[in-house]
Amino acid sequence: MNILFVGDIFGSAGRRIVREHVGHVCATHNVELLVINAENAAGGFGVTPQIAEDLFDLGADVLTTGNHVWDKRELMEHLKSVPADSHERARRILRPANMQKGLPGYGIYEGVTKSGVPYAVVNLMGRVFMNGTNDPFQAATDIVTGLKAKVIVVDFHGEATSEKVAMGWHLDGKVTAVLGTHTHIPTADERVLPGGTAYQTDVGMSGPYDSVIGVETELVLHRFRTGLPGKFEAAKGNPKMCAALIQCDAETGRATAIQRIMLGD
Ligand SMILES: [Fe+2]
Ligand SMILES: [Fe+2]
Repeated sequence: MNILFVGDIFGSAGRRIVREHVGHVCATHNVELLVINAENAAGGFGVTPQIAEDLFDLGADVLTTGNHVWDKRELMEHLKSVPADSHERARRILRPANMQKGLPGYGIYEGVTKSGVPYAVVNLMGRVFMNGTNDPFQAATDIVTGLKAKVIVVDFHGEATSEKVAMGWHLDGKVTAVLGTHTHIPTADERVLPGGTAYQTDVGMSGPYDSVIGVETELVLHRFRTGLPGKFEAAKGNPKMCAALIQCDAETGRATAIQRIMLGD
């Protein structure tokens, strides 16, 4: 079976380019599970319940996030009262599983694809150059041990390539794919690890590449040159959809191939 994982959607340019491409990519490759990282979908900062609805309408099965998950307060409200055993859309919006206990939402979703394959999606966040989470390696082990599904997709949201590569090896043979998000720069290291886990350090942003990782270039340059604070705005130019296409055995969950995708206008 084929799985498509779309990297961090950034702003309206990112939403538009994903709207343009995700349908034909899924149709061409007979994609059975579509996971989208949506942490920057709302103007670069967080995701609103309405934008999440639009992404589910495009065919997303599960949305993942990261450090920007709480940027839009209404999402926190939206996730507050969702029961753990629900399959409604709000239950399929994940935040990192290794955040502090007691926060709204969930970091794991277990479902069944249209053709009846059980799957799980796990969202984790790194700790190198990032704050606010518990040990992602221990969390990964605890979570994966408790999952029944064989097809398991892990979004590891992290800054440091070393921590992400390490997570790939940590989970090799235990999950179908470990896909990095957060840096907004796609890495050229996609491969299937020896144990049968598809891996890519960062899938890359689905957003405007005439920018500094999604933000208007001049605004970021001004901050770097002067050290002064200033409002960041999402750029629009040269949008690309970055994604990883993973082929796996639906029964064993072992990956057989991973392909890097970057599509523009
Ligand atoms: Fe991001
Ligand atoms: Fe992030």
